[in-house]
Amino acid sequence: MTIKEMISAQIPKQRERYEKLIKDHGDTVIAEVTIRQILDGMRGIKSLLTDVSFVDPEEGIRFRSMTIAEVLDALPKPEGADMPYIGGLYYLLMIGEIPTREQALEVDTDWRKRCEVPKYIFDILRTMPNDAHPMALLSVAVMALEPESEFSKRFHKGMKKVDYWEPALEDSLNLTAKLPVIAAFIYNLKYKDGKEPEADPNLDLGANFAQMIGVEDQKGYADLARLYFIIHSDHESGNASAHATHLSASTLSNIYYAYSAGLSTLAGPLHGLANQKSLELLLEIRKKFGGLPTKEQLRKFTWDRLEQGRLIPGYGHAVLRVPDPRFIAQMKFAKKRFPDDTLVQIAEMVFEIVPKVLIEQGKAKNPAPNVDAISGPLQYHYGVKEFEFYTVLFGVSRAMGVTANYVWARVLGQPIERPKSMTMKMLEEFAAAN
Ligand SMILES: CC(C)(COP(=O)(O)OP(=O)(O)OC[C@H]1O[C@@H](n2cnc3c(N)ncnc32)[C@H](O)[C@@H]1OP(=O)(O)O)[C@@H](O)C(=O)NCCC(=O)NCCS
Repeated sequence: MTIKEMISAQIPKQRERYEKLIKDHGDTVIAEVTIRQILDGMRGIKSLLTDVSFVDPEEGIRFRSMTIAEVLDALPKPEGADMPYIGGLYYLLMIGEIPTREQALEVDTDWRKRCEVPKYIFDILRTMPNDAHPMALLSVAVMALEPESEFSKRFHKGMKKVDYWEPALEDSLNLTAKLPVIAAFIYNLKYKDGKEPEADPNLDLGANFAQMIGVEDQKGYADLARLYFIIHSDHESGNASAHATHLSASTLSNIYYAYSAGLSTLAGPLHGLANQKSLELLLEIRKKFGGLPTKEQLRKFTWDRLEQGRLIPGYGHAVLRVPDPRFIAQMKFAKKRFPDDTLVQIAEMVFEIVPKVLIEQGKAKNPAPNVDAISGPLQYHYGVKEFEFYTVLFGVSRAMGVTANYVWARVLGQPIERPKSMTMKMLEEFAAAN
């Protein structure tokens, strides 16, 4: 069965569960909200629904209740590859079950049928100034795809609410199919010959991406692309890019508008851009110390940086309180394939030293590495050295998580999101009265 048929089969039961929760338990109190949470970026307020993934502070992400290690192990893989089909992961996020090899392949094949990017998108990107950040290009391209939206076309013709999910899925499949091609074009435009990429019908998405950006070690990079696109896909609903997309789409603006907002959010250095900033830091360390520093040198370097009030990108997390399993999976990949790479070795030493310094400094609630602390050296190893591009890769992957959430939000008929704000005076009065 296709993704569409599988979702269709699940709809009656899931709608019944959702409606029952509202009708029978709508007034059940989950938790209280503190003044600190209101002032401190809504940390930990439980206020979003998703079945697609869950981040446990002490364990990390589970996609549809499976850990990263379990997912990488259970998903079907292309012949001779170490890492699974990306289409298989999308199936898992959408449906909640590990696909068969045929089902995983079907997603990859469907993407290839949908992956042609309208020529005007390439033309728009060519007119952008040379110093525009690749994330600005990606966000513009996604926004510019808006006229393609089936959701908006059908909505304006007068579609019933129960049918919203169908064109939402159609748009999501189209967007996730076109994004890798757009990303590869942005790479070629900014750093190579500007060639418009063409997908090879015989390759899965990982191998196709390697081919479209023209890296030398196609086989090695194809596995990295598979790993990268799988592990960056989702991190439950509260992360900034997913939440921005969800909020935007809750107004029934289509996924092109909504994910453009999500990408603009991913472009912040506290979020997706940290992968670029993290590699910049590792390169700075390599240059300053002419290779691997001593532990004492790195300790002092880290302290000096913190004393200047600067961040250590790739470390800390709003929810996680342990080393990110996405960091562990990438480190394992690097150590298996290129343990002697200096940047990987520096990243490893940073992993040993930085958490201790952050603990000593006493500010960061989580001193452990996140996904961004190691993703750069892996790209760099395969020749993708233009670190400004790294957040674009993140954006290609994150689209899978947010669109799975988007489709299910439309299935369940989730309403426009509208939290309530308070003034500072109200909070002071409330505090005084309590
Ligand atoms: C991820 C991050 C934004 C989480 O923010 P948060 O939930 O507010 O983090 P905390 O509650 O632990 O922050 C408490 C303090 O520690 C600081 N801190 C947290 N992580 C830090 C880091 N990696 N380097 C330096 N200081 C850090 C915060 O800036 C904050 O300082 P302040 O009180 O002066 O404002 C934060 O850890 C960070 O900026 N990390 C670096 C950027 C990064 O890697 N982002 C990618 C996340 S996947």
